Amino acid sequence: MGLTVEAALIGLAPRQLAWQVLQAVAAGAYADGALERELNRLPLESADRALATELTYGAIRQQRLLDAWLDALGKVPAARQPPRLRWLLHLGCYQLLFSERIPAAAAVNTTVELAKRAGLGRLAPVANGILRGLLRLRQHLPAEAPPWQWLPQLEGPVTAAEELGLRHSLPAWLAGLLLQWLPPENAEAFAASCNQAPSLDLRINPQRSNREQVLEALHKAGFSAEPLVESQAIGLRGRGGDPRHLPGYDEGTWCVQDRSAQRIAPLLDPQPGMRILDACAAPGGKSTHLAELIGDQGELWAVDRSEARLRRLQRNADRLGLTCIQTLAADACRLAMERPHWQGHFDRVLLDAPCSGLGTLARHADARWRINPGAIADLVGLQQQLLEGLLPLVAPRGQLVYATCTVHPAENDDQITGLLSRHPGWRLVRSQQWWPGQVEGDGFFAAVLQRTDEWPERAAG
Ligand SMILES: C[S@@+](CC[C@H](N)C(=O)[O-])C[C@H]1O[C@@H](n2cnc3c(N)ncnc32)[C@H](O)[C@@H]1O
Repeated sequence: MGLTVEAALIGLAPRQLAWQVLQAVAAGAYADGALERELNRLPLESADRALATELTYGAIRQQRLLDAWLDALGKVPAARQPPRLRWLLHLGCYQLLFSERIPAAAAVNTTVELAKRAGLGRLAPVANGILRGLLRLRQHLPAEAPPWQWLPQLEGPVTAAEELGLRHSLPAWLAGLLLQWLPPENAEAFAASCNQAPSLDLRINPQRSNREQVLEALHKAGFSAEPLVESQAIGLRGRGGDPRHLPGYDEGTWCVQDRSAQRIAPLLDPQPGMRILDACAAPGGKSTHLAELIGDQGELWAVDRSEARLRRLQRNADRLGLTCIQTLAADACRLAMERPHWQGHFDRVLLDAPCSGLGTLARHADARWRINPGAIADLVGLQQQLLEGLLPLVAPRGQLVYATCTVHPAENDDQITGLLSRHPGWRLVRSQQWWPGQVEGDGFFAAVLQRTDEWPERAAG
């Protein structure tokens, strides 16, 4: 503990900001939005910005494991601690357990000082005691020991799901499902992947540039970017910060899109001049990809029920210089009724459905704590309504691609099996599940379906 209090306080601002975000998320805010708001309110130097981001997302992801440590170390269980103290202790414990570069003294002193400055002075000794207790335990472990080692909860008889969930800080229900769906080593890889910082992938806009030029501009500006082997994308691993500051953003030579998401639009085999409907389109990652793939030539409708998100789509299309996309704010379940002239009209329909997002838990730190089995059942119902509403819009011999960024079979394979059993005039061309932990990038599912009957179905009503 060689650091003076003043030296340790140098890092107070990013930790205070992270603490504010943890409190906002506990009150219901989305982590991304809350962090962006706080960073706009209190601009930080880029190193502090990166630290605030790492601590915020890390502490949110590791919430279950951090609570388990508080339960083990404190006199009062985590769930009964005053909430502000609980989130502050999460930040302190996170630094001690997960950060190799933050000195232990800085983690402890800044936590105690924040407690004092925020009017929790009476509880500062509690914070100090818990963090020092953790440090003492940690000192008995080899440096490379994982943060769950010696956690007392893991010593008793626990189920495999309890243990997996606790070690990787996943809700128990999700850990249980992973072990049902996957062999233990793949469930382990999935769970571990949820806690890794996701890569930042770029999709090249062929209307404006090519991969070599974009790579050259990035390298010239000092970024370490690499071409991906399995696609035309570029990966920038380990980079925080606002991608809008990367070279080429204003010129629209690329957009941000995960490498797995970049696999979806090509599955439609889109050709110039086609009539294409992207039914759940905002904020437009796949609509703009489709527009690029058809050389900006064709009839491409981007429908979404959120007008605000459609405005973002339009801004993205404008920046990329794409003009063939037409937007429509509507409920995609009802398009066949509200636009009867669209029945049998489209060569291709993409349904990138609202889903549980279980394939993108690494990207959305708070998502695992928001989603639950009841919400998934509701989403399955909505996905089915969307599929049923969209089938009549596909032209004879046309195709519909159903995609999700989840791994839940009820939202994926089961959805497709159910659809095919209800609609004999359709066949499955192919489907694929990409599992986090087995592929790089987000988890995705896609099924390509083809209409085999000659006449478009009529919508009911
Ligand atoms: C997975 S996101 C789509 C992402 C988008 N395809 C992309 O690549 O950027 C799902 C979208 O479905 C929209 N949505 C949900 N229910 C809808 C409905 N009934 N009709 C139209 N859009 C809907 C949401 O507003 C959300 O923008």
